[in-house]
Amino acid sequence: MRSFNLFGLAAMAGLAIACSWQCSSTRSQAASDKGLKDHYRDYFPVGVAVSPRALKTDEAALVLREFNSLTAENAMKMAPIHPAMDRYNWRDADSIAAFAQRHQLKLRGHTLCWHQQTPDWLFVDSSKQQVSREELLKRLKEHITAVVSRYKGTIYAWDVVNEAISDKPGEYLRNSPWFRICGEEYIEAAFRYAHEADPDALLFYNDYNEISPLKRAKIIRLVNSLKSKGVPIHGIGLQAHWAVNEPSYGQLDSTLREFSLTGLKLQITELDISVYAKEHDARARQASDTDTSFSAQKAQLQQQRYREAFQLFRKYKRHITGVTFWNISDRYSWLDNFPVRNRKDHPLLFNANLQRKQAWWDVVDFKTP
Ligand code: GLA
Repeated sequence: MRSFNLFGLAAMAGLAIACSWQCSSTRSQAASDKGLKDHYRDYFPVGVAVSPRALKTDEAALVLREFNSLTAENAMKMAPIHPAMDRYNWRDADSIAAFAQRHQLKLRGHTLCWHQQTPDWLFVDSSKQQVSREELLKRLKEHITAVVSRYKGTIYAWDVVNEAISDKPGEYLRNSPWFRICGEEYIEAAFRYAHEADPDALLFYNDYNEISPLKRAKIIRLVNSLKSKGVPIHGIGLQAHWAVNEPSYGQLDSTLREFSLTGLKLQITELDISVYAKEHDARARQASDTDTSFSAQKAQLQQQRYREAFQLFRKYKRHITGVTFWNISDRYSWLDNFPVRNRKDHPLLFNANLQRKQAWWDVVDFKTP
């Protein structure tokens, strides 16, 4: 793991910490109905990943004030929505879709084919033997057809395949059960099945660590190869699970530039900025993890990352057709349990009391050209 010094970075950036705290509290008291979606009306929809439960709490009002697009955090993934071969559980996904329709929000679908959160039955037959390639593709087709057809006309864009690329330097595609059983072909099959079920839906390939030049080159290789085969793919989803120490402005600029050269639409699909230095693998808690406060230093570093990220999203607005946050507020984030279980993170633009953080003001502080 890379070594990282929060205090050093804060000092380097020459940050005026005291002033910013004061400004923040004054400004956050100022009532403003203008949400992120309004500030970015001329740029792209601003979305958020939600659970059906959150939409029944006081977070719903915040969602409606700030966002104009939703993604189901878990409800449309394979295991929750298709728990047994002959049984779909539509309840949670339907409830999110109904909320989106009721309030005229856009809805992204996430995700049709992934190696995680898969149901137990998927890769094996009734005697627990691994299924054949033909059988797995048949199951994939049935799944995609059922889910995409159900939300046809409601979901405008789908993350069709999630995280198929390997993180290992010498390996192209991830050695997942999908790949082991079907080979590379499952990826294009998933896109074709989704397109058959809803020819109007925009279809995305979605992945993380897209800011790494090595990973990015593999993602670009994949989408270009799909395009050259005439596979219906319309966009690349950049998950954007970032942190206070990465990406740098230059790194994100080249990331967006290189992806934009594919000619595909780009969406930021799972944005959050952890207040801890980036770590890619889960690990045990250690002594240095005890300070989980949202200190002024952490806040400043996070503000800088958010400010720069949105500056670049605006720069690439011709290519970026959506920016979605992964979770609503610091009340709850998946990062509270990753990479360290039970280490509170503060990665979003709203604090646990649902108040706008200083980073929110930095994100909306720009002049439309
Ligand atoms: C990945 C997935 C998301 C979510 C996050 C962590 O990015 O695409 O669905 O599971 O991990 O919460």
